[in-house]
Amino acid sequence: MAHSVDPGQRRETFSTRWVFILAAIGSAVGLGNIWRFPYIAYENGGGAFLVPYLIALLTAGIPLLFLDYALGHRYRGSDPLIFRRIKRWAEPIGWFQVGICFFITIYYAAIIAWAALYTVKSFNKVWGDDPNTYFFETFLQMDASQTFSFDFIWEIFIALAIVWVAAIAVLAVGVDSGIGRISKIFMPLLTTLFLIVVIRALFLDGAVNGLNAFFTPNWSVLADPTVWVAAYGQIFFSLSVSFGIMMTYASYLKPRTNLTGTGLVTAFANSSFEVLAGIGVFAALGFMALQQGVGVDEAASGGIGLAFIAFPTIINQMPLGGIFGVLFFGSLTIAGFTSLFSLFEVVVSAVKDKLNLPRKTTAISVGVLMAVLSLTLFSTTAGLVNLDIMDKFTNNVGIVAVALIIIIVLDWILRRIDEVSGHLNMVSSFRVGIWWRICVVNITTLVLGFTLFQELVSLIKEPYGGYTTAQVAIYGWAVVGVIVGAGFIMSMLSWPKGLPIDGPPGSDFGIEPELERIPQVPRQFNPNERRIAGFAIEQYK
Ligand code: ALA
Repeated sequence: MAHSVDPGQRRETFSTRWVFILAAIGSAVGLGNIWRFPYIAYENGGGAFLVPYLIALLTAGIPLLFLDYALGHRYRGSDPLIFRRIKRWAEPIGWFQVGICFFITIYYAAIIAWAALYTVKSFNKVWGDDPNTYFFETFLQMDASQTFSFDFIWEIFIALAIVWVAAIAVLAVGVDSGIGRISKIFMPLLTTLFLIVVIRALFLDGAVNGLNAFFTPNWSVLADPTVWVAAYGQIFFSLSVSFGIMMTYASYLKPRTNLTGTGLVTAFANSSFEVLAGIGVFAALGFMALQQGVGVDEAASGGIGLAFIAFPTIINQMPLGGIFGVLFFGSLTIAGFTSLFSLFEVVVSAVKDKLNLPRKTTAISVGVLMAVLSLTLFSTTAGLVNLDIMDKFTNNVGIVAVALIIIIVLDWILRRIDEVSGHLNMVSSFRVGIWWRICVVNITTLVLGFTLFQELVSLIKEPYGGYTTAQVAIYGWAVVGVIVGAGFIMSMLSWPKGLPIDGPPGSDFGIEPELERIPQVPRQFNPNERRIAGFAIEQYK
């Protein structure tokens, strides 16, 4: 293995800020927007949920997105490299994020494979009159009693293998020509397809009942802390903050990039998509409720059921339902795929930086390993159970814990948060100040601390979801253990020679000298920012 790096070697970059924005929106808009948001909003107060949701967006989503962008842009590396550059002992934090993305990627790919299969199945409504039985018994052949299953479902196996080949191909091609190019094609396509779905849904009989159910606020829920936890959880998952994705993507930005402006565009585009999905899904549920002569609350179901059971039912009942199904599941597949490769890139970029391997080699070797695991765990009769448990532990425990650790380490221990705001203000149009600091440091710590405590208590009290202790131990707790253990082991391996990793506090690994060389940037260094950036500027001026 060539373990030495050319110090002059430049990091790959997105060709323009717009390509980055499309890739970032592609990562944010995913399964979380289309099926997760509508039922989370519905279960947590309907219209009233929009209040905690907006507050969560403004106090945690956007501030943490800025934090992710700033860290990636300033330290220009994969997650572990970013944390290694911040402080030697902080490197495992980056690997924890890599580990979380590793496991999320392997199950997320399976849901995309299901959506892709359902896109094809929509043509002739293969599920027949009973989409529920079809989904669980015929399609997934679910067997909740098995801890290990080697009974493969070949249809899912093949679709999942194709999803993996596609994801590996995108990453092997490169940042701009792979991730960037696919995002440029898929995001406008997704927006068009999904707008057609929503507009069609709005014209269905009964749509208005669905919208009333969705938007009628139940204000009393605002006193319930779990509603607030749900709102913050949704924002984290949906905006992909603290996954390490946005840090990795921002490390491919050019030095002169308006970070906060870019973050605002990404965040509002993602939330607009989410509310649009809520409108479309509930209009369709209103139609279904009318057909079945039941209330919308009876028609609405949560989780996987919403996409794979309620929608097939709607498709059965509406005129030209097949085409609607193709558009709906097609949108879900595309939205999921652009999020999938962003998750996968966190792993690829980390391994590539640490082992100093070419991108293609890394994408293929890491991808094949992950694909084998993904196929073994999720294309068998135990797939749904494994997926559900892994999803719960990686998201509700993993992401929440790692976000909390990042804030505690960056601010409470290392006192480096002002360096981050200094960096944001140096390159951006919209400046952050004390409010940003309060949001990131105080509000987020409180909310994350409370959420994590609550989750851990309920997970320790009884095995999640009524599964057996063995199932939860293997696909939940052991996964958390592997993420932590592997994080420490990977941190012990040495970095390639010649890769700049140590610098005095405030060192920015090359961003600021490049900014200085561009005459009109930075426009507004103030003395404090100069001090923060001092090392690099003095050295290169
Ligand atoms: N942000 C991605 C989603 O919403 C992970 O699915």
